[in-house]
This record gives sequence, C-alpha cells and structure tokens, in this order.
Amino acid sequence: MRAFQPSSPCSSGCSAHPREPILPPARQRSETLRLKKTGRRRPQGTVLGRPLRLGRSCGTQAGPQPGALAARGVSVSRTILIIGIGAGNPEHMTVQAINALNRADVLLIPTKGEEKAFLADMRRDICERYLTNEATRIHEYAVPKRRTDGSYDGGVNDWHHAIASIYEETLLERSGPDDTIGLLVWGDPMLYDSTIRIVEHVRAAGRVAFELEVIPGITSIQALCASRKIALNRIGLPVQVTTGRRLSEGWPEGTGDVVVMLDGVEAFRTVQDRDAEIHWGAYLGTPLEITIAGRLGDVAETISETRSRARQENGWIMDTYLIRQRNGQEAEGET
Ligand SMILES: C[S@@+](CC[C@H](N)C(=O)[O-])C[C@H]1O[C@@H](n2cnc3c(N)ncnc32)[C@H](O)[C@@H]1O
Repeated sequence: MRAFQPSSPCSSGCSAHPREPILPPARQRSETLRLKKTGRRRPQGTVLGRPLRLGRSCGTQAGPQPGALAARGVSVSRTILIIGIGAGNPEHMTVQAINALNRADVLLIPTKGEEKAFLADMRRDICERYLTNEATRIHEYAVPKRRTDGSYDGGVNDWHHAIASIYEETLLERSGPDDTIGLLVWGDPMLYDSTIRIVEHVRAAGRVAFELEVIPGITSIQALCASRKIALNRIGLPVQVTTGRRLSEGWPEGTGDVVVMLDGVEAFRTVQDRDAEIHWGAYLGTPLEITIAGRLGDVAETISETRSRARQENGWIMDTYLIRQRNGQEAEGET
C-alpha cells in the first residue's frame, strides 16, 4: 500500500505521468463487475459473482491540479455519495439510499477478510436487491490493516490515509471526470464512522475535486431501540453515546442513560449500579439477532456468556447496548 501523500504528482506516487487526465471511457475498464440480473434472490450470506480487487499499480492518468481543468474549459463534476445502508437488515435501506445507489457509476465495497465477510456479503446483497442501473460497476477493495504498534491516534491516522489513497485512486484512475462514486457505509455515516473524515482527507490533498453528498441510514442504536420496543431517551433527559473503553473508565457525568458501542471489553460488567436496566443487542437486524434485557445484576453474566458463545460460533460479533440507571428523573415537555 503506498502512502497517501498530500502533494505527490501522481495518485500512485509516480512522477512519470502527466498531470492532465487521459480518461478512457470508464465503462470499458477490465476490472468492471456488472451485476447479473438473474431475477433470483441470493440467499443471505453468499457471495455475489467474482470479487474484484482494485489494482495497486500506477494508472495511466494523474489527477488535475485544483482548477487546472476548469481553467482549460474542461468541466469536471465528480461526485462522492456516502450512503448509509442500515445496520444489518437490507430492508433498512431508505428510498433515498436506493436512489443514490442507482446514481453511482462505481460502488466501492470494502472487504475485511474472513471474519467480517458478513459485512461485505451484506453490501453485495443490497446491490443485488436494489441496483437496477446496469451500468453501475462494483469494485471491491481489501481494507488496509490498522497498525497497532505505536500510538493509537497515529495508527488511526495512518489507516485513514491509506483508505483515502484508495478513494483517491478510484476517483482518478478508475472513473471518469463526470462519474459518481458510491461508498456504502454501515448504519449511518455520522455515527462512529470515519468515512466523511477520510473523504475530507482526499479533498484536502487537492489532487481531485468532487462534490460530496451524504445519505443518512438506520443506525444500530435505532435497530436496538426498535427491537427492544423502547424510546432511546427518557422524557426530557439526555443520553450519552460512548464506547466500551470509555465506559470501563467510569460512568459519564450528567446522564443516567448511556448507549455503548464498539465494546471489546464487556464494559457493562464494570458498572457499579447493578440495579440499572440494560438493553443489549447483537447482530441487530440480521438473521443472527440476539437481544437480552433486564436488571444489570441479573443478566450481565448471561450477556457475557451469550456474547462469547456467539462470537465463537460466528467468528465475529457486533453489539450495542443501552444502560439506564433507575434513579433518573423524567421531565415534562415531550410528546
Ligand atoms: C464502527 S461502528 C459503526 C456504527 C454505525 N455507523 C451505526 O450507525 O450503527 C461499529 C459498532 O456499531 C455497532 N453496531 C453496528 N451494527 C450493529 C448491529 N447490527 N448490531 C449490533 N451492533 C451494531 C457495534 O457497537 C459496533 O461495534
């Protein structure tokens, strides 16, 4: 994986190529995967077609300097669509998301190896169900690994820039100047997801101009509340959304209601108030969905055992939970 460098003359780090793009018709590219419309529904969890990898080699065109094409009277109108696809049920897709999917010339599907194969399959399933635009191409790319040596922030920053280089390469080398690229984001793009930040890294590097549109999706928090048939907040009270790591450092100030995501440490076990109520959900919206709810002191062990077993059986787990202290005072003023 080449480094994402803000001022490299070629998006692949090669200085031998001209700055002006030489863009063959995007739809003649050999890496193209067209969806075969069979009229049949693929069962969930199977793989659609041949997976295709983005080449990592230097392409035949470099990106324009900002404004260079416009100065020559060439209009460039690339668009990136960041599309929220929901948290695991293909029917979470909104009409707006389906329309956005079909506007894309290229859809990027991240693959993360065996353990997260379900997430890639889910994106493929969504494409098979909802993509009616025969011209849309699907590119799969392997998500770079995040470095775990050194500082956490440094590792995340390098990781984001590595993904940014893939987006940039797709814009410059795998699509034309008027093409629309769709990024399928799990849940909603505004919630514990860095796709918007990563796309802004691409913009900041200045080699390619584009418009950005964000399409909201159903979050795992919404899926949890719907499955548990509960409102997220108590009347007039705040809710804090946090990570397992933060909760394990102590209950947050100023709130009796906490939603926990990205919990690799089972932080619910560290909560002192054993009378608090927990609503826990794993694989929400998927055929594997499990929920457990009750008094924390009564159900924490069951959640922990269920979680370990499910993780072992499925090879992965994603879970989200709400913990509500019983002493919170509800206020008036909400319908
Ligand atoms: C990187 S964040 C992405 C959140 C996503 N953008 C959203 O709107 O839900 C991943 C975390 O979201 C939660 N999550 C996502 N999908 C889930 C699901 N289907 N069931 C339970 N938790 C889920 C888990 O806490 C997981 O660790």
